[in-house]
Amino acid sequence: MLYLTQAAFIQLEAFMNINHFRTALGALIPVIALSMSTPALAQFAKPEDAVKYRQSAFALMGAHMGRLAAVVKGETPYNKDDVVRNAAIIGTLSALPWQAFVPGTESGKTPGKNDALPNIWTESTKFKSASERMQAAVAELNSAAQSGNPENLRKALGATSQTCKACHDDFRKK
Ligand code: HEC
Repeated sequence: MLYLTQAAFIQLEAFMNINHFRTALGALIPVIALSMSTPALAQFAKPEDAVKYRQSAFALMGAHMGRLAAVVKGETPYNKDDVVRNAAIIGTLSALPWQAFVPGTESGKTPGKNDALPNIWTESTKFKSASERMQAAVAELNSAAQSGNPENLRKALGATSQTCKACHDDFRKK
């Protein structure tokens, strides 16, 4: 978007000068449409930024899953409001990593830690299904949290963890 904005302004100025504002708008629409379809990498300055982004989202998801696990294990006293808050945070985070699996960012292709196996891209349908199963489980986790029933929480947390593990088994470097 940033790259194209300048060009769009030059066009807009030129058209305004000859008082063809409508034509200018017409010219802008394809520019906006084009910028919306730019590849995902455009959101990240460098490939390693995409890796850092997805790892950060996963790390936070792990931290908040851990807080709920402590409740289920009885290490932290059950408090419905805290449970609801943690589940909601996991819900938000669960939508984030996927945009950062930019082609060409598999393990070995970027500097630093990177555990993304190449089959994420060669089996992208399977990877996407795994991500959707996790997001569906997280939606259930949120319902369970809101129910205020610790037993519902225990079951939904277990089911969610299964979906994390399933994807890690297939797509994350051991
Ligand atoms: C659809 C696949 C998929 C699902 C579902 C998934 N993960 Fe991951 N996860 C990955 C991949 C791939 C990596 C490695 C990313 C990398 O190194 O770039 C990863 C990395 C991680 C990491 C390490 C992050 C770091 O700092 O390097 C944690 C923690 C993690 N996941 C937690 C979770 C939790 C918790 C869930 C479930 C709530 C989950 N993941 C669900 C694919 C998945």
